[in-house]
Amino acid sequence: MAKIIAGVGTSHVPAIGVAMDEGKTQEPYWKSLFDGYGPVRKWLAEVKPDVVILCYNDHCAALPPDTIPTFALGVGDEFQPADEGWGPRPVPVVKGDPDLAWHLVESLVLDGFDLTIMHQLQVDHGLTVPLSITCGQPKEWPFKVIPIEVNVVLYPQPTGARCHALGRAIRKAVESYGKDQKVVIFGTGGMSHQIHGERAGLINKEWDTAFLNDLTANPQRLIDLKHVDYIRDAGAEGIEMIVWLIMRGALNDHVQEVGRHYHVPASNTAAGLIVLENR
Ligand code: DHB
Ligand code: FE
Repeated sequence: MAKIIAGVGTSHVPAIGVAMDEGKTQEPYWKSLFDGYGPVRKWLAEVKPDVVILCYNDHCAALPPDTIPTFALGVGDEFQPADEGWGPRPVPVVKGDPDLAWHLVESLVLDGFDLTIMHQLQVDHGLTVPLSITCGQPKEWPFKVIPIEVNVVLYPQPTGARCHALGRAIRKAVESYGKDQKVVIFGTGGMSHQIHGERAGLINKEWDTAFLNDLTANPQRLIDLKHVDYIRDAGAEGIEMIVWLIMRGALNDHVQEVGRHYHVPASNTAAGLIVLENR
């Protein structure tokens, strides 16, 4: 049987990917941020998942605003990095797992999650930066990846509660898959940030810290947050954090935090990361 053994939540700041691609990680601005990623890389290399289910949001890079899936799942063999304006990131192509992906689609649709099935999907920094953060710069990514994309950039977005329920349904789907597979689930986005208007540059460290704490201790508070709560306290783009609730929903009620990194600032936001193991 396949099993989800752990979850990773992380922000996906595009400048972090650029710093890695351009060899700038040891520069004064970046060094302590990247030093903080050492433990998660070691942890993931030891865990050696067969598959990562990577929940993220596209930023109108691969999915232009003329078609807006609320939830989309990639069933392809591979996913190329999207061109976000500076050319596609020079990172390995992301290899999919069509067999498990189709199993997820069937189970999730029958459970009432009418997600969009993506045969073709290019992946932007929302997906590739978390891989770079947790794996460094290998020639090939060390596991297969099933992308689950969530609309958080155009109104109306799904609620955090719906994202958490999707996570629950993902766990059920994985556990009904016949092959022995070790699965880790990622939720990426945030943390608090707003990149336009009068509040551009907003970072709310207290809010971010409470979010990280409550993922383990009190996820119900996070599930109950409304969009307006995120926008008021975490900035307009802080709403990306609802994607982390898919990851939390796919884990057991009882989890243990085994890793955390929080660094301010990284570009316009905080770099935040948490690792949760099922108990
Ligand atoms: C920034 C952060 C993001 O999550 C994003 O998608 C785009 C930009 C930033 O801090 O610059
Ligand atoms: Fe983002």
